[in-house]
Amino acid sequence: MSEKHDVSGVPTTGHVWDDDLADFTNQPPKWWMLGLTASALFVVVYWIYYPSVPFASTGGFFKGTGGWTAIKEMEADKGEVDAVRGKFEARLKDMTPAAILADNELSEYVKRSGKVLFGDNCAACHGQNGVGTRDKEGLFAPILNDDDWLYGGKIDNIHETITGGRQGMMVAHKDTLKEAQIVDVAKYVKAMSDEGKDKADADPAVAAGKKVFMESDCTACHGPDAKGMQAMGSPNLTDKIWRFDGSVEGIKRTTTYGVNSGDPQARVAVMPSFKKAGKLSDAEIKKLAVYVYKFGGGQAEVAAAPAVEAAAPVAK
Ligand code: HEC
Ligand code: HEC
Repeated sequence: MSEKHDVSGVPTTGHVWDDDLADFTNQPPKWWMLGLTASALFVVVYWIYYPSVPFASTGGFFKGTGGWTAIKEMEADKGEVDAVRGKFEARLKDMTPAAILADNELSEYVKRSGKVLFGDNCAACHGQNGVGTRDKEGLFAPILNDDDWLYGGKIDNIHETITGGRQGMMVAHKDTLKEAQIVDVAKYVKAMSDEGKDKADADPAVAAGKKVFMESDCTACHGPDAKGMQAMGSPNLTDKIWRFDGSVEGIKRTTTYGVNSGDPQARVAVMPSFKKAGKLSDAEIKKLAVYVYKFGGGQAEVAAAPAVEAAAPVAK
């Protein structure tokens, strides 16, 4: 029933819509037919090469002629990643933490790959990215991404902390100082933090506390300038950074019962040793030292040397 359209002369199906709309019987363009055939072929090849048809009867499936499995593909990908990592890991093994840090490529690698290691071993206490965690008594484990360090922020200090653990010890004063003295010294310590040391020293309202501080044992561990000693992890008492509760009440409690002093009411702050516990390999400890340093608070070994020496005048 082939007819022709009266205007264009193209063959039609003979069906006319609404007086003048006709169904033409033009062949689709060649490129379109080729595409259709090619995709039909592709489907057949794909079906045969890759696992495809499930067998309802046996619960199995047609495995395909190519031998592809998702597991094999995953293993191949993992192999590639391991090969890249392997190169870095092999170099890391015999290097000191300072040398790793000085090597841009390696320290970038550690910065990127250390997250899981830190998450698994450290974040429970120090918080993700080292932001610290607080319990009701104050800071449970210190912030690691600032530049305030109890034990020093040089790469070797950090490495030593993770390897051997740390446990700052402040003695209790409940038997050596009277309660009134403890209140006085707490007020002085608070004033040093609030006003700065010089102002607190000149402030008659806390003079009694200053006397206690200078004449009891406080200076032995915190130093006469109250700025702390990293060798024993005693903090700077003149800044605004507090590990524990920094109110007069809180300072009174720290001073009365101490820190890690064995007193039942002492504050407890123990950083475990990851070497002794055998929890981490030497390489992992090195990586974590670099990772923590790279949070941004790490301190350089020496002040940067001047870039160029002043040129000596040349005599003509
Ligand atoms: C059980 C909790 C706990 C875990 C787990 C832990 N830490 Fe600590 N960390 C502490 C405490 C508490 C301190 C402070 C010790 C003190 O006050 O004497 C500390 C101190 C530190 C310091 C010294 C900070 C300074 O100011 O000098 C570093 C660095 C550190 N931790 C890194 C790590 C790394 C890296 C890991 C993981 C491998 C880790 N910590 C796991 C509790 C923990
Ligand atoms: C034996 C050494 C030692 C003596 C003596 C000592 N301290 Fe400490 N003090 C420390 C150490 C170490 C810490 C840090 C403990 C830690 O964080 O693990 C500390 C922490 C503190 C803190 C807590 C700081 C914060 O950020 O929360 C205060 C407050 C303090 N000392 C005040 C005093 C006063 C006041 C005296 C004198 C009455 C004194 N200390 C005597 C070693 C000592």
